[in-house]
Amino acid sequence: MKKIPLHHRDGICDIHCGEPFAALVPRIDPRRTLIVTDTVVQQLYAPLFGCLPVVTVGQGEAIKTLETVEILYRAFLDRGVDRSWRVVAVGGGIVCDIAAYAAASWMRGVRCILVPTTLLAMVDAAIGGKNGVNYHRFKNLVGTIRQPDEVLIDPTFLKTLPRREMLCGLAEMFKHGLIADAGYLQEVEQAVATGAPIDELIDRSVEIKVSIVAQDETETGLRRILNFGHTVGHALEKLDPTLAHGEAVAVGMAVAAELSHRRGYITKADADRVRAILAATDLLATTAHRAGDIAATMRADKKKSGDTLAFVLLKKIGEAVVVDIPFTELEVTLATVCQHR
Ligand SMILES: NC(=O)c1ccc[n+]([C@@H]2O[C@H](COP(=O)([O-])OP(=O)(O)OC[C@H]3O[C@@H](n4cnc5c(N)ncnc54)[C@H](O)[C@@H]3O)[C@@H](O)[C@H]2O)c1
Ligand SMILES: [Zn+2]
Repeated sequence: MKKIPLHHRDGICDIHCGEPFAALVPRIDPRRTLIVTDTVVQQLYAPLFGCLPVVTVGQGEAIKTLETVEILYRAFLDRGVDRSWRVVAVGGGIVCDIAAYAAASWMRGVRCILVPTTLLAMVDAAIGGKNGVNYHRFKNLVGTIRQPDEVLIDPTFLKTLPRREMLCGLAEMFKHGLIADAGYLQEVEQAVATGAPIDELIDRSVEIKVSIVAQDETETGLRRILNFGHTVGHALEKLDPTLAHGEAVAVGMAVAAELSHRRGYITKADADRVRAILAATDLLATTAHRAGDIAATMRADKKKSGDTLAFVLLKKIGEAVVVDIPFTELEVTLATVCQHR
């Protein structure tokens, strides 16, 4: 067990790594606690919640809406949730994002505890205080940055997680290694190859994200490096809804690595290594999309017009930098990476 503190604007959020869910019970008042979970987690883990009241939302990105937030508000109202209560989100990134947003906005903020149950939520979504829902056709357009009171990471939840979901979390772990810690990247690579336990690697991923967020909680600078692979990744997710988030981001990371090489930051061998690491885990999905379509989607998504895009590149393996890239340059690189498959 390891406690990782995240020092933020309003205090400290303790992240309890490797702690069983049951350890939470003595820290909460059961009469003033509301669990929020999704249908899948509820079905698998209902006995864990004992007599605590539970609100269950559906599952999948489609429920990440203001309508679902309203369902939670209604449950808060019916049960008399006020600022003496705690909302405990138990689920993947979707449950964590929605419940944390509902808690942040209810009565101008009730306490919130996140218990991530997917690998992606453990190493990424539950860490750093971003919450929110999708609006219209835009992801995470409505939301706040507000740190939860605590996060409890219990890796035993992962025993029931489907492989494809595990890979999505792994993609973010690779991302953390690529942007911040070359040694960590190698360890994740080895664990994947040997099937070694990843509990300790989850803690390290949390530490990497915590150290970045603590330096730039509101994403005015450094925190942007966490978007590595995501600019192209988000465009691909839009073009091809059958792709998992991690698969789309993996293609994005391969493109960013190639671009980093073309810009003279990393060697060809390093760019190839990035692609090989991702391909070895089946993360590098085949995408039939043309480079031009991907670039056009990114252009359309850009809030302001212009010929360049702020893009996260690798200065070296284990260090990232944000660079303005002309769309034309991006299209050429996209074409190279896309024809590799
Ligand atoms: N707030 C942030 O900083 C941040 C960062 C990254 C991603 N996100 C958000 O996270 C969301 C994706 O999160 P996700 O990948 O966890 O998806 P998810 O919450 O949809 O979970 C994936 C699937 O796994 C199921 N599941 C959850 N735990 C399980 C378990 N232990 N065993 C078996 N099945 C389980 C869920 O019901 C769901 O069907 C996206 O909406 C994304 O925008 C937020
Ligand atoms: Zn991601």
